[in-house]
Amino acid sequence: MKKALIHPAPYRFDITCDDISADKSISHRCAMFSLLSDKPSHITNFLQAEDTLNSLNIATMLGATVETNANAITITPPKKITEPSDILDCGNAGTGMRLYCGLLASIDGAFILTGDKYLRSRPMKRVVEPLKSIGAVIDGRENGNLAPLFIRGGNLKAFKYDSPIDSAQVKSALILAGLHANGISHYKEHLLSRDHTERMLRGMGAKISTNNDGWIEIHPISKPLEPLNIAVPSDPSSGFFFAVAAAIVPDSRIKLVNMTLNPTRIEAYKILESMGADIKYELKTDVYEPIGDIIVSYNGKLKGVDVSQNIAWLIDELPALSIAMACAEGISRVSNAKELRAKESDRISSVLSGLEKCGVVYKEFEDGYEITGSKLAKSTIDSFGDHRVAMSFAIAGLLCGMEIEDIDCINTSFPNFFEILGKITKVEK
Ligand code: S3P
Repeated sequence: MKKALIHPAPYRFDITCDDISADKSISHRCAMFSLLSDKPSHITNFLQAEDTLNSLNIATMLGATVETNANAITITPPKKITEPSDILDCGNAGTGMRLYCGLLASIDGAFILTGDKYLRSRPMKRVVEPLKSIGAVIDGRENGNLAPLFIRGGNLKAFKYDSPIDSAQVKSALILAGLHANGISHYKEHLLSRDHTERMLRGMGAKISTNNDGWIEIHPISKPLEPLNIAVPSDPSSGFFFAVAAAIVPDSRIKLVNMTLNPTRIEAYKILESMGADIKYELKTDVYEPIGDIIVSYNGKLKGVDVSQNIAWLIDELPALSIAMACAEGISRVSNAKELRAKESDRISSVLSGLEKCGVVYKEFEDGYEITGSKLAKSTIDSFGDHRVAMSFAIAGLLCGMEIEDIDCINTSFPNFFEILGKITKVEK
């Protein structure tokens, strides 16, 4: 297992970053949704990281061909999705596994989805149960809750599903199933979760609309969809590590170029702003998603904050936000965030375990935590195999130095993270 030693930032920094990794959520969807067309999809800036390359590899195992040309890929779908001759490995990606479950549940054939030891311990019944209730045949350990999952694709019934959780993965799995159901389906969530699936499928010609009362109406498709033609924007969840860096290293500034400015994805930046950081958003284009630059500048010591709403809009950024909270004046609280326990690691426990090692005072709750801001101490942090935990504590190292153990997981989402960090400080691996 590889380690990294991060040295404290020697000076203020002022950088423009046009190489934040491409958006993970959108890249997964590009790989999968291209299978719903009968023409080649053209994608530039597809995320070349382990999670999304696994999704792309699964698309090829289902019969697609992929051609790469510089920063662009062309995915040519098969005439008909083919039954793969081997198991489909999603690696570490919950998005890969949950969305493929929804997509494959209606496809004629047998499919086995598996993943690494972390993914094989994450709950799948949130998608498996609603899919089974509409006729899908899916099984796995614990009655279908744990991968490997076996899917026997078949006919699905139209549904009306009021989701108990605000999850884009559950929503997307059900929307994908609804595209091949035997009538018009309806799906409701209480807080709009990231809506890339709706935006992209609508762009491909699917009839998906959201009513005033929050119900999403999904019409089955009678013919293949139009192909995707998309430039994937940069990932605001990846950019956020460096946003926190600029907000905590005195007199620093960063310009994050070509980020998706989708409101369901930039809530953590709004929280950082409410803690005192100076943040500007410059909209540039709007194709599938609003896209633009985010400029974050240090603006004095951050102040503690209470985070209890719109949790689905900042769930992935909470580990990095916790570092900002630990450096802020006063007490910060996170609540209604029990979902953090079902991510790549139990992120409440892995973040607090790291903060404890850095000497930070905290209280743990089932659905969140309270952090008392202080001066962090250098320590050796276990990433628990979780990319976002590893990167969050690497950013904390800019203030006090930090050793991060088990950094390989960073390759699942942000392979050039240390290259960018290396522009700010010395990193030894
Ligand atoms: C994702 C949705 C979120 C997020 C994950 C990616 C997606 O999960 O945490 O990193 O691409 O749909 P949930 O929707 O399950 O909360």
